[in-house]
Amino acid sequence: IYGNERRNSRGMNIQVAAHRKPLLESLRQWAATRWKAAPIIDGEKRPDSERREIHAPYDGSQKVGEVFWASESQASDALDVADKGFALWRERPVEDRASCLNRYADLLEANMEELMAICCREAGKTLQDGIDEVREAVDFCRYYALQGRARFADAIALPGPTGESNELYMEGRGVFLCISPWNFPLAIFTGQIMAALVAGNAVIAKPAEQASLVAYRAVELMLEAGFPSDVIQFLPGDGTTLGGKLTPDPRIAGVAFTGSTRVAHILNRTLARRDGAIVPLIAETGGQNAMIVDSSALPEQVVRDVIQSAFASAGQRCSALRVLYIQKEVAERTEQLLAGAMQELSVGNPELYCTDVGPVIDGDARDSLESHLSELAENAEFISQTPLRNSAHSGHFVAPCAYAISSIKELKTEHFGPVLHIVRYTAEKLDEVIDEINATGYGLTLGIHSRSESTAAYIERRVKVGNTYVNRNQIGAVVGVQPFGGRGLSGTGPKAGGPHYLLRFATERTRTVNT
Ligand code: NAD
Ligand code: ALA
Repeated sequence: IYGNERRNSRGMNIQVAAHRKPLLESLRQWAATRWKAAPIIDGEKRPDSERREIHAPYDGSQKVGEVFWASESQASDALDVADKGFALWRERPVEDRASCLNRYADLLEANMEELMAICCREAGKTLQDGIDEVREAVDFCRYYALQGRARFADAIALPGPTGESNELYMEGRGVFLCISPWNFPLAIFTGQIMAALVAGNAVIAKPAEQASLVAYRAVELMLEAGFPSDVIQFLPGDGTTLGGKLTPDPRIAGVAFTGSTRVAHILNRTLARRDGAIVPLIAETGGQNAMIVDSSALPEQVVRDVIQSAFASAGQRCSALRVLYIQKEVAERTEQLLAGAMQELSVGNPELYCTDVGPVIDGDARDSLESHLSELAENAEFISQTPLRNSAHSGHFVAPCAYAISSIKELKTEHFGPVLHIVRYTAEKLDEVIDEINATGYGLTLGIHSRSESTAAYIERRVKVGNTYVNRNQIGAVVGVQPFGGRGLSGTGPKAGGPHYLLRFATERTRTVNT
């Protein structure tokens, strides 16, 4: 069940020129491609609704493709098809279902360059992020295939005092609505869907508005892998419209959602207002993540891990570091080193090997971050800002920035980008630091840098989060070994990529036979 016999996908090390050169060559072949996405209902592509053009977030003059947004009547059609598809799919042996996941994983690997190219051009992923995106998607498939076999293949015999045959087994719930964010447009999109399908559900997949092209290509590959056309329906389009149409429908037997805490609350309220069956909401949401650095930490190591945690993926990870607490004794030295390291980051076209930080996803994201940065410029102490090169001015770029503030309490919301807030604390105030982190109500990731095992253990015990990282960065959880997910405002669990995830997609049944 814990999957020790499993291997993660190897990915690729682009520091090695012999790997990088053929990859860059292959990516160039996709440079002129314009991708398309449209609703896919019972295997049929339906480009007959509202059309939207997609432009690269790093260069608005580059058209990447076009998306046809699903209408409400297409959402109804999708639900009718999925509801019928579930009846047969739930009867298929889990072995068949798991084989489809593994075939899809192979197809993801075989199409890695194209998928990476779409991730870069549609969602602004850097080369390394693009590789990691495909790799995580592959890992989700293979891990859930294995978990599915372990959990669903055989009933658990429960011999006991009744003298009857008692067995417990798991089965799918019905039609799962899977709603995903743009920041992991392939990995999270894939992970939710594969978990639901291997557990025996049919799926309606709703990708983020900003990242439908890669999701559409993924669904094409799912169909090629052998998933029946009536078990996976694809509805790109407006979240409010499609969510408003689908979530109140009693045929939706569960919702897997990853995105903002605000939208998770909307879904939770809608499902709670429904009459009839009470259905699960699996919500993985935002964070206000902190790292606590005490005076025993090594500044060079801290700086390396802060740069990764706060600025990789342009800070657009739910796990990203937002508030760095540094003990006063090491604050000056650490901040100096950090300011220097931030000057060396390269912000720009994510398809270039030299780029460390790509664009933010769109103009709204940039405007919202810039407005927060203007407030910081007025009210906080400036620490450092990465210079933007000329080439970075035509897209939605935000230069990585660091400001010192007095407390995490000053942040009223998650600022989803490359903005780091620093708070200096004194050792006797450690408990106050912990209390104010807990008081945010979020609970996703926590970084700790300390060479005192007892201090690290104390902080870990007291801060309420889902994932703790000690003496390393706090992003990039690995499927199967670092199950990922938060608590409180950060989500419901169970953790994605962990051994309990599939259980929430299923329902338990006990069979008792008088033998
Ligand atoms: P979002 O909440 O704006 O959108 C997420 C999805 O919800 C999109 O597909 C959107 O179309 C849909 N949606 C919007 N309104 C809806 C409604 N009323 N009903 C149904 N669906 C609706 O989030 P986003 O901007 O795409 O993603 C960024 C957010 O996701 C950040 O808050 C980030 O922290 C969070 N996130 C969390 C995790 C995690 O594992 N905890 C992972 C990635 C991202
Ligand atoms: N699973 C992603 C990470 O760990 C969000 O960064």
